[in-house]
Amino acid sequence: MEDIPSIDNHQNTSGRRKIFLRGLIEFSNRCRKNCYYCGIRAGNRRVERYDMPDDEILQAVDTAWRNRYGSIVLQSGERNSAQFTARVTRLLKKIKTYTNGETGITLACGEQSVDVYRRWFEAGAHRYLLRIETASRSLYARLHPDNATHRFDARLTALRNLKDIGYLTGTGVMIGLPFQTADDLAADLLFFQKMDVDMVGMGPYIEHSDTPLYRYRHMLLPPARRLELSLQMIADLRRLMPHINIAAATALQALHPTGREQAIRAGANVFMPNLTPAKYRAQYRLYDNKPCLDEAPLRCHHCVASRIGMTGCEIGYGEWGDRR
Ligand code: 5AD
Ligand code: SF4
Ligand code: FES
Repeated sequence: MEDIPSIDNHQNTSGRRKIFLRGLIEFSNRCRKNCYYCGIRAGNRRVERYDMPDDEILQAVDTAWRNRYGSIVLQSGERNSAQFTARVTRLLKKIKTYTNGETGITLACGEQSVDVYRRWFEAGAHRYLLRIETASRSLYARLHPDNATHRFDARLTALRNLKDIGYLTGTGVMIGLPFQTADDLAADLLFFQKMDVDMVGMGPYIEHSDTPLYRYRHMLLPPARRLELSLQMIADLRRLMPHINIAAATALQALHPTGREQAIRAGANVFMPNLTPAKYRAQYRLYDNKPCLDEAPLRCHHCVASRIGMTGCEIGYGEWGDRR
């Protein structure tokens, strides 16, 4: 693979690229949506739904904090109840207090109203991830039910609101979707650029047997090609946006054991070790073959350090690693 351009604020003095860690906590798999590709869609009755209690979440935060991960990502399905909003608000404040405000908090809890986004921002979240999934309006329509809960425009508006409020805003897409064309992928890259996003998390689409999109699996590129395409997208995006944060998506590792390390070599600079307790992981299966399902969080922790070591990069311990 060719050399990627240097990411100037993300290098140490010896010129080795820095990789930032974000401990991923999948704190609830309840979701009101029915995205056709996703294993935890509301319509999938085979999923046992959970909400991690606060003390378990704080324990995961503690693991991140003690191991000097600069930040955590709190991810869940999409819910809009007042209770959920209040719960997340409370949780953010607790985490801020617990870590003396030192741990950066990224939220990934779907589309919410401006008010909710603002409340969470004021409670201490400073980054938000909301994947556009595809920048193509027509492809988006094929991947989601045609109703008011799944509107492309609402997603765009949500992204703009996040930016206006002041969040460092991340988005992303799936790569290798059925019906997706090379033009669609090029449009995705231009979309990131036009939106001037701070972070991108994009990874291969991987089929899940309990989802409606599964019946189009014969249209998919073989795993090796889908991996290659995903790595190519990361390399292209790094050229296009040298200073943003690009995540090495977990889904890459479902296609190849070293998929995430390959993403780092291609230009990704964010790695998200999974800190979700082992007992919940099988219930947060967005796609088949999701890696680390049986692993304890600490095993992922050690594994991640050696994985990053193999790429010749170094870990930015204790750093938020925000785009300048
Ligand atoms: N394959 C790959 N990624 C998926 N996601 C959901 N389902 C799948 C799948 N089958 C991604 C979506 C979502 C993120 C949380 O997980 O992009 O935004
Ligand atoms: Fe819910 Fe997100 Fe899955 Fe869609 S992709 S069903 S919003 S968890
Ligand atoms: Fe989970 Fe290696 S990253 S065990």
